[in-house]
Amino acid sequence: MKRTTKGTTVVGAITIVMALLLAAGCQQTQKVAATSEAEAVSAEEKGTEAAKTEEMEDVSMLYDFEPDPLRTVAQCAQCHIYVFEQLKKEGGKHQIECVQCHTEFHRYNPKTRPYETVIPKCATCHELFHGKGTTEVPLDDCAACHIDPHMPLVIPSAEIENACASCHKKEGDEVANNVSRHTTEVACVDCHADTHGFIPECSACHESHSPGVEMNSSNCMICHPVHMPTKIAYATDTSSVICAGCHDAAYGLLQKNHTAHTDLTCAECHKSHAKIPPCSECHGLPHSKMMMDTSKCGDCHGIAHDLAS
Ligand code: HEC
Ligand code: HEC
Ligand code: HEC
Ligand code: HEC
Ligand code: HEC
Ligand code: HEC
Ligand code: HEC
Ligand code: HEC
Ligand code: HEC
Ligand code: HEC
Ligand code: HEC
Ligand code: HEC
Repeated sequence: MKRTTKGTTVVGAITIVMALLLAAGCQQTQKVAATSEAEAVSAEEKGTEAAKTEEMEDVSMLYDFEPDPLRTVAQCAQCHIYVFEQLKKEGGKHQIECVQCHTEFHRYNPKTRPYETVIPKCATCHELFHGKGTTEVPLDDCAACHIDPHMPLVIPSAEIENACASCHKKEGDEVANNVSRHTTEVACVDCHADTHGFIPECSACHESHSPGVEMNSSNCMICHPVHMPTKIAYATDTSSVICAGCHDAAYGLLQKNHTAHTDLTCAECHKSHAKIPPCSECHGLPHSKMMMDTSKCGDCHGIAHDLAS
């Protein structure tokens, strides 16, 4: 054992000596050439000059290994922290390994390798996802709408302004076929502003016409289907105070002269807006046949909102 170790040391020492000889050329070789083991070791300890020389000589050694390629999200994230944060917050189903998409990276070169050739293609995994579209509304330029692949569902509404109805035929038809001022004065993207899928509150543009009751969008939409707001419909238990917002006279009369009709909601008689019910709808034929003419009921009973006692 001891012997072998010693032998190795000697061989090592000789190698160093030879290296030093070459480096130093013919300079003062006498001292260095000393075969003394101790001197050689001491040269190795100090020998910065010696080590440098060795590096220069065996420079290819630097490359003599297989690098461990960057692979994991954690590795990429160390440098691309901004991209990582985007994917973390808004990546959705794109929260996959970076290298699944970036099969090539760090190869961009403005002169020899244009950007388009190094970035992943949507088609590799999705094909023409929504079809080709039409010439007016093409759907094949993915990045026009999906502006950032690291946030695939963040789609600015302005980018898809003309395309809404090609994917939302039902709503497109509703708005177009029931012309209201939401058709003529408001565009899809005025309401569905900012990013795709945004739902507005009515209060962003309207004040309530019936401040007597607190109302939010979903209450408004009971009467006004938003894409066809003039197709007004409501249930019979709708609060009369809402109607009173515009018909305070009718409401006032009913309250003032308290009769059995006061206990009914407006909507129980006016089942659809502006429709006047005949008295007979609820009362049938209360008197003899001679008095059947509905238009005459009022002669004796006054008006429905203010029954004569
Ligand atoms: C040690 C830091 C570092 C690491 C780790 C790193 N990158 Fe980069 N990357 C850069 C730098 C620097 C650039 C050039 C400047 C820039 O675009 O931000 C770059 C550019 C890119 C580009 C732009 C296109 C190109 O080819 O240059 C892509 C894509 C990319 N990196 C993907 C990745 C992926 C995927 C990983 C993990 C597998 C990764 N990077 C890991 C530093 C790093
Ligand atoms: C679903 C595929 C996909 C995934 C997953 C993905 N990327 Fe990208 N990445 C792309 C595409 C496509 C582009 C080109 C975007 C452009 O320039 O419009 C891109 C661009 C980049 C760029 C250069 C432009 C920029 O935004 O800085 C970097 C750097 C980058 N990606 C890093 C990453 C890293 C790091 C990850 C993982 C944490 C990752 N990407 C995950 C598809 C992906
Ligand atoms: C390496 C494959 C790959 C590439 C390249 C790729 N995607 Fe995806 N993408 C996926 C996978 C996987 C899903 C999840 C699919 C699923 O669950 O049905 C996905 C989902 C999506 C989603 C839905 C995201 C969600 O959270 O629901 C959108 C939008 C999308 N991709 C757009 C794109 C666009 C645009 C590009 C090009 C910039 C692209 N993708 C490139 C793999 C990819
Ligand atoms: C005109 C705009 C537009 C274009 C162009 C477009 N998309 Fe989309 N894409 C959308 C919108 C809007 C959605 C719905 C997003 C949502 O669910 O909130 C969507 C959804 C998706 C989804 C997810 C669907 C799901 O149900 O999870 C994928 C995947 C997708 N697009 C891929 C693509 C690819 C690939 C291309 C290019 C071939 C492309 N898109 C072109 C607007 C567009
Ligand atoms: C490429 C097809 C596509 C285009 C273009 C498109 N959408 Fe969508 N949209 C979708 C898909 C897919 C969904 C998701 C449906 C689901 O989740 O049931 C969606 C969902 C929505 C939602 C519902 C969000 C929610 O919370 O329920 C609204 C609102 C919407 N889109 C409005 C619009 C408007 C406005 C436009 C035009 C500015 C538009 N979309 C353009 C495909 C599209
Ligand atoms: C005056 C504002 C306004 C306009 C204009 C408008 N929307 Fe809407 N939209 C809404 C509101 C509010 C909702 C939520 C409805 C609900 O909750 O029932 C909605 C819901 C939707 C939905 C989701 C439906 C669902 O069942 O989830 C889609 C899709 C949609 N709108 C598309 C469109 C399209 C396409 C246009 C243009 C043709 C359009 N909208 C015009 C206000 C508007
Ligand atoms: C982005 C703004 C905007 C939003 C959000 C909005 N509207 Fe409108 N609405 C308008 C404009 C503008 C008009 C036409 C001028 C007016 O009447 O104030 C209008 C008109 C109307 C009309 C009268 C339609 C006609 O043709 O006479 C009704 C009813 C209506 N809106 C109900 C609603 C309801 C209910 C909501 C919420 C679900 C809503 N609006 C959300 C902008 C908006
Ligand atoms: C009980 C049903 C009902 C409810 C709830 C309701 N409305 Fe109305 N709204 C009507 C009727 C009825 C009209 C009158 C229609 C006409 O002129 O023929 C109307 C008219 C409107 C108009 C047309 C302009 C005007 O002021 O005359 C707007 C705008 C409007 N409503 C917005 C709203 C909003 C916003 C809400 C919620 C805060 C709401 N409505 C709740 C029944 C209702
Ligand atoms: C018992 C049934 C009944 C009830 C409840 C009722 N109405 Fe009427 N309303 C009528 C009848 C019937 C007429 C036609 C005039 C008449 O013959 O009395 C009428 C007429 C009207 C008119 C047109 C004439 C006018 O007075 O301006 C308006 C507006 C009206 N009602 C609104 C309302 C409102 C708002 C309420 C609730 C506050 C209401 N009505 C409750 C039956 C009713
Ligand atoms: C935003 C204001 C508004 C609200 C709220 C409103 N109306 Fe009206 N109403 C009107 C206007 C304006 C007219 C006249 C134009 C028309 O006939 O559509 C009218 C007409 C009527 C008429 C017919 C009057 C006649 O002379 O023939 C009746 C009945 C009526 N409304 C009942 C109701 C009832 C019931 C409610 C509550 C469910 C209601 N209104 C809510 C604005 C409103
Ligand atoms: C939507 C149904 C409805 C309509 C329409 C209606 N009524 Fe009534 N009316 C009632 C109810 C419910 C009562 C209370 C129970 C009863 O007496 O039958 C009532 C009670 C009355 C009473 C008794 C008043 C009291 O205080 O005891 C008179 C009188 C009357 N109605 C007259 C009329 C006349 C006149 C008309 C048409 C102008 C009319 N009603 C339209 C539902 C209606
Ligand atoms: C010539 C006057 C006159 C006319 C016209 C008239 N009524 Fe009467 N009505 C009365 C008188 C008086 C009473 C109270 C005495 C009674 O109970 O018979 C009454 C009672 C009623 C009552 C209450 C019945 C009860 O059981 O309490 C109703 C409901 C009623 N009338 C509805 C109508 C209707 C609907 C019409 C039109 C078809 C009408 N009336 C036409 C004079 C009239």
